[in-house]
Amino acid sequence: MITQSATHRHLSTQKKIHYLKGFPLVGSSLDFSRDRLGLLRRMAEAGDVCGTHFGPFPIILFNKPEHFQSILVKHAYTFDKGDSVHRTFRPVIGDGIISSEGDFHRQQRKLLAPPFQPQHIASYADTMSYYGEQIQQTWADDSVIGINQQMNHLTLSIIGKTLFDADVFTETDTLGSAMVTTFKYVSRALDLPFLLPYSWPLPGNLRMHKAEAVLRQRIQRFIDERRQLPTERNDFLSLLLLARDEDGQTMSDQQVMAECITFFGAGHETTATALSWTWYLLCQHQDIYQRVLQEVDTVLQGRTPTYADLPQLPYCLKVFKETLRIFPPVYATCRRALTNVEIDGYPISKGWTVFLAPYTLHRREEYFPEPEKFDPERFAPEREKLLPRYAYMPFGTGPRVCIGMHFALMEGQLLLATLAQRVSFSLLPDQSIRPDPTQSLVSRPSGAVNVRVKRR
Ligand code: HEM
Repeated sequence: MITQSATHRHLSTQKKIHYLKGFPLVGSSLDFSRDRLGLLRRMAEAGDVCGTHFGPFPIILFNKPEHFQSILVKHAYTFDKGDSVHRTFRPVIGDGIISSEGDFHRQQRKLLAPPFQPQHIASYADTMSYYGEQIQQTWADDSVIGINQQMNHLTLSIIGKTLFDADVFTETDTLGSAMVTTFKYVSRALDLPFLLPYSWPLPGNLRMHKAEAVLRQRIQRFIDERRQLPTERNDFLSLLLLARDEDGQTMSDQQVMAECITFFGAGHETTATALSWTWYLLCQHQDIYQRVLQEVDTVLQGRTPTYADLPQLPYCLKVFKETLRIFPPVYATCRRALTNVEIDGYPISKGWTVFLAPYTLHRREEYFPEPEKFDPERFAPEREKLLPRYAYMPFGTGPRVCIGMHFALMEGQLLLATLAQRVSFSLLPDQSIRPDPTQSLVSRPSGAVNVRVKRR
């Protein structure tokens, strides 16, 4: 048995964690609810490793690239995602890949990986561009649109089509709306210090029970259709139903459902948020915006972009990557220590929570000089090569690295090119927009980002 004294035995050589002082009893938990990015920045300014308390519980922010490697790769299985993730996701969604742990996670990850490999993802490029072309046609010249809402519609349609080969997939569709209800419920629940049982008939739970019934009924129908008519269909669901583990076993319908709901949730708001921030930053940097327009006009000459065009659109990719640096949608991730462990000489006791925040990591001056400056050239291949391996982490790393990373990068680059070719945007004046991670699991722009559309 591992004991505290056995694993933390070299006490004299261990480094001491510096703690930010919070309020009596609650610690920094109120600060976290009010302004979590501000709190993370203050912790990062205080040192490479800094602790605080949420109530009586210590929370430690590790902010060096090697800490990401140590916690997410080297000690990946010494940590899990913690109670708040398990108790929130599992009753509602089932034990999908985002909340599963240990051997079960490893096995699921292996089963689910093939559809996300670059060679397979390529087949979704046309779907992405097609929906981009569809949505831009609904924007009249000189009209005003809320860009984040539009990007959400767009990525919802794309994930709906790629998962289920279903065409109508918006928040007004019953399935789309049940998915949105589910992820609102999950993101609110994750913020609560404790959760009343999901079975209790509280108003939020009742809304969620209804949404869950719709999800299960509709996804079951998709599954049954594919089982009855096993024709080739190019959607994730078909691939999940065919996937077999080493013993030749397929997933249960219930597990397939949990994975579909997980992909849906993890795969649309993240990318929509990244695209909203991209347009916001482009509107504020006209020189960079002009270079994007020049690139798409020269390469595409009016054609809808395809997978084959991607290598010819490097500036669009640099812009998208730089946006993910400044405003990483997954601004922080947390892990709970399963045993006593030492990270970079700092003792972490069993049960403690550690935070890793791409938001603060990406603002380290030694890797990203003038970190608030929007400078896509940081991602020119020759400069990107010089970055230390774990200095840029919008998708995490290790065995739980974002499974949709290639999908998301392709989607960002393609949609940026598709839309930039047809329209240009300008921000309406007097909008105060900042990243707001309190309304959802990702760091969205606060409020609507209203832009005026000019058809090109
Ligand atoms: C710009 C868009 C995206 C960003 C910034 C992003 C970011 C991330 C990050 C940081 C993680 C790791 C979280 C952790 O270690 O705790 C993650 C995990 C995950 N992402 Fe993404 N993601 C994006 C798009 C997508 C897409 C398009 C999909 C699916 C179609 C997806 C599916 C997932 C899944 C299933 C996991 C859990 C993987 C596991 O635990 O094994 N993501 N994502």
